[in-house]
Amino acid sequence: MIAYRRSEPGDLSHIRSLWRERWGDDLIVAHGEVYRPDGLPGFIALDGEEWVGLIIYTFLGASCEIVSLDSLREAQGIGAHLIQSVVMEARQAGCSRVFLITTNDNLEALGFYQKRGFELVKVNRGAINRSREIKPGISLIGMHGIPIRDEIELEMSLEPRTA
Ligand SMILES: CC(C)(COP(=O)(O)OP(=O)(O)OC[C@H]1O[C@@H](n2cnc3c(N)ncnc32)[C@H](O)[C@@H]1OP(=O)(O)O)[C@@H](O)C(=O)NCCC(=O)NCCS
Repeated sequence: MIAYRRSEPGDLSHIRSLWRERWGDDLIVAHGEVYRPDGLPGFIALDGEEWVGLIIYTFLGASCEIVSLDSLREAQGIGAHLIQSVVMEARQAGCSRVFLITTNDNLEALGFYQKRGFELVKVNRGAINRSREIKPGISLIGMHGIPIRDEIELEMSLEPRTA
């Protein structure tokens, strides 16, 4: 049985080591911004004491950005549950949208988010080449052997749709 809770200040070192393991460093670069987990809110998925998922997000004006999402046990609904938790937070905070940046090679994430109500809104060509200047460890070749070059922004609008 998976349980979910908000992250707490005492989780910081665990979050940093999970980011290092999954993202190669304890910082994440997106749209030219450097994100460190310090002070950012998040939700953790737990199987007993074991961490099986983590989502970290932040608020930028009326937008809520998902900074990182990791499921350590795929295809059990953990990713979807973590996203839902953040979408609920964003709605309660009065945000107009939830957005995230992924990379052009991450075909699974592109499919996963689109199936859950996110739409592609922007391609920032060559953005990862610029991110490498800040975080040189970003691989040149990513998933499926695809060169990692571009940032892709996806968003879920929280505005009521007009007919
Ligand atoms: C993308 C990612 C977060 C998805 O997490 P996840 O926990 O596997 O997500 P879910 O389990 O909610 O959904 C994944 C699939 O499993 C299916 N699934 C969910 N519960 C299931 C169950 N009990 N049995 C079988 N399949 C199930 C879902 O239907 C979904 O399939 P679909 O996308 O074809 O509809 C995960 O693959 C991951 O951590 N990737 C690496 C990091 C990454 O790329 N993060 C996002 C970049 S910002």
